[in-house]
Amino acid sequence: MSYLSISHLQKSFNDLLALNDISLEIEKGEFICFLGPSGCGKTTLLRTICGLESQDSGSIIQDSVDISRLSAEKRDFGIVFQSYALFPNLSVFDNIAFGLVNQRRPKQEITDKVNELLSLTGLQEHAQKYPSQLSGGQQQRVALCRALAMEPGLLLLDEPLSALDAKIREHLRREICRIHRKLGLTTIMVTHDQTEAMTMADRIVVMNAGRIEHVGTPEEIYLQPASAFVADFIGTSNTLYGEIKDTSLLLPGWTAPVALVEKRTGGETTILIRPEHLTLHNEQPSGPHAQGTISDIEFLGSQLSVELKLDDHQTQSNKALKATLSLQDAHHLTLTRNCPVWISVQPNNVCLLAEQEASAA
Ligand SMILES: Nc1ncnc2c1ncn2[C@@H]1O[C@H](COP(=O)(O)OP(=O)(O)O)[C@@H](O)[C@H]1O
Ligand SMILES: [Mg+2]
Repeated sequence: MSYLSISHLQKSFNDLLALNDISLEIEKGEFICFLGPSGCGKTTLLRTICGLESQDSGSIIQDSVDISRLSAEKRDFGIVFQSYALFPNLSVFDNIAFGLVNQRRPKQEITDKVNELLSLTGLQEHAQKYPSQLSGGQQQRVALCRALAMEPGLLLLDEPLSALDAKIREHLRREICRIHRKLGLTTIMVTHDQTEAMTMADRIVVMNAGRIEHVGTPEEIYLQPASAFVADFIGTSNTLYGEIKDTSLLLPGWTAPVALVEKRTGGETTILIRPEHLTLHNEQPSGPHAQGTISDIEFLGSQLSVELKLDDHQTQSNKALKATLSLQDAHHLTLTRNCPVWISVQPNNVCLLAEQEASAA
């Protein structure tokens, strides 16, 4: 059985359905990210898991105990918020010791535990300082120590890095991963930052408007997104409407069908192609391809982003596609605005959306 088992959670605020039939299984020791746009319900789900918010219906089982109706004080978790929420009048040491002191643990045990956490997070020399004397990143480390002090079974992080500037964020990202690996603590982190989720999570839960859109490893979510929303939210993607005939797929504007890797029944379907999976040519290639015109080129440092308009003689439309290529690949090509270009794609880089999503689109 999973460590945390969430089934059919439902939660409304007045007319707004903030959580809509959320079911999710989390294994012991996993690092999970809830990822989605602002207002999609990430914080509400996190707060419901720890009892700071109560669901209208549905259940939560943690470590084989039904905690659905337990108050937050009776649940086993530590939490870190975006705003550090430290006690300003207490030293770093006392902030971290707070919960243990409340529990009247032996003095020596408290000192040992706090010192262990201070050294785990590299804060030893700041023990006697006050929060106002620390940088944002240091304060967030103190908040993390405070959450870890009670040795919770579940660590919850609600956008812990969002208030920090880029450099420190990246540093603390790695630090949180290191601490997670060291302690093996089941961790859920809320973020709206796809890079954060992709680099930190074992599995990502992509949410949209109170629902779970996709649960998977970063790789699964990137390469085989469950919906157009997921594909768009994680990186960028070209969305096309193709037609499946037998074992191949005809894309609008393409000269010939592309072989299908996946077996699928015929008909219209929504497909996704990542910008880096389109290959550009200066001359007509031999296999299935489309022709277009370059409408824009952006230099992104290590990459070139090319926008092109596809000539679709059938529908007379002028569909814009995005392609990205490495500078090395671009070096072999002549790419200028308004110049004609041919594109092709490898069959295994054509991602067909799940059938229910395709028919809804
Ligand atoms: N206490 C509350 N009262 C009323 N509406 C709320 C409350 N908390 C959250 N909401 C609403 O629920 C939705 C989900 O919010 P939230 O879980 O905070 O989203 P996220 O963390 O993904 O940005 C939003 O539309 C938000 O305005
Ligand atoms: Mg939030």
